[in-house]
Amino acid sequence: MSDVRELFATLTGRVADGVWSAPGRVNLIGEHTDYNEGFVLPFAIDRRTVVAAGRRDDGLVRVASTFAAEPVRVELTDLARVHAEGRLRDWAAYPLGVVWALGEFGVDLSGVPGVDLVIDSTVPVGAGLSSSAAIESAVALALTQLWGLDFSRETLARVGQRAENDVVGAPTGIMDQSASLLGSADAAVFLDCRSLVAEVVALGFAEAGLVVLVIDTGVRHAHATGGYRDRRAACEAGAAALGVPALRDVGIDDLSGARDLLDETTFRRVRHVVTENQRVLDTVRTLRTDGPAAIGALLDASHVSMRDDFEISVPELDVAVEAATSAGAIGARMTGGGFGGAAIALAPADAVPAISDAVEKAFATRRLASPTRFTVTPSDGARRDG
Ligand code: GLA
Repeated sequence: MSDVRELFATLTGRVADGVWSAPGRVNLIGEHTDYNEGFVLPFAIDRRTVVAAGRRDDGLVRVASTFAAEPVRVELTDLARVHAEGRLRDWAAYPLGVVWALGEFGVDLSGVPGVDLVIDSTVPVGAGLSSSAAIESAVALALTQLWGLDFSRETLARVGQRAENDVVGAPTGIMDQSASLLGSADAAVFLDCRSLVAEVVALGFAEAGLVVLVIDTGVRHAHATGGYRDRRAACEAGAAALGVPALRDVGIDDLSGARDLLDETTFRRVRHVVTENQRVLDTVRTLRTDGPAAIGALLDASHVSMRDDFEISVPELDVAVEAATSAGAIGARMTGGGFGGAAIALAPADAVPAISDAVEKAFATRRLASPTRFTVTPSDGARRDG
């Protein structure tokens, strides 16, 4: 936090008006269900994006970060044109995309004073831990409070999603921003992605002696292109063929009938979403009745479904999941959009060193680059830090 304050002072010659932060997230379960209007159960993690922000009085927005040499500057009244010309690119597309999206949500960008934003982050990029949502959520909350806007956190999640969809160009759902804005310590966010009603569900990992180990394969993905978009299209085609508004409306009991109406691949895509929605509901129920040590089989089944039916895993993720499970994890699965990124393993705290070693060995045996491992703690969502 002191870093962004210092960098802010160096770049602007002023003291920042405040510092805000927002976390990345791990999705415990509920993958590719959000844009199908289903259920998700992510939690905010103890890796955060920090933003030092200060008002300007000249209608200019400037963004700088510890990970890019050059600050980017745009007149607020020019933002729509700059976006239309496709000139909001690279990392600056996230913070500037949020400013643009606030305009789409009714903020008069010619009536706000301008802002300097300086950003730093400890959320690994491309690991499937929502580094982008962390930037969007931190900036959205900072601007809301700095400019005195009247937006709920639920609406700010939609603002961030809008930036991601329309400016970054990734057709993603509402999960990541919701986790980043609505998360709380020791708990997950149980979100109904149709009604957007969120419930906080206690995880109780620490009391049960459990931790979540993240295994970042180092295989990088981009959701603006390729597989993510294809899977989303397959889900929409499946829903249309079944005559429902979204796959949320298909239940487990409908699957046998759906098999006759869909081609084989689309059927498997649909089956993943339908069974995954049920697994989220089962996980929430199990957490409440039996505690976190009882959810392992659901995590494992989620991974198998993503690997075999939705086909979004990669060999590195499968190796990580298998090695972690064999070495004593209660359950393990890839997390996030897939095609790379990280797996998570829920494990007894004292088994983590052995699991970490087993994963390292399994990768070495297959001549794969050693994956990064670290534990994460369910943490608070976006907040003002100073
Ligand atoms: C990415 C997207 C989310 C969600 C997941 C898959 O993280 O940003 O909206 O679709 O993939 O569950």
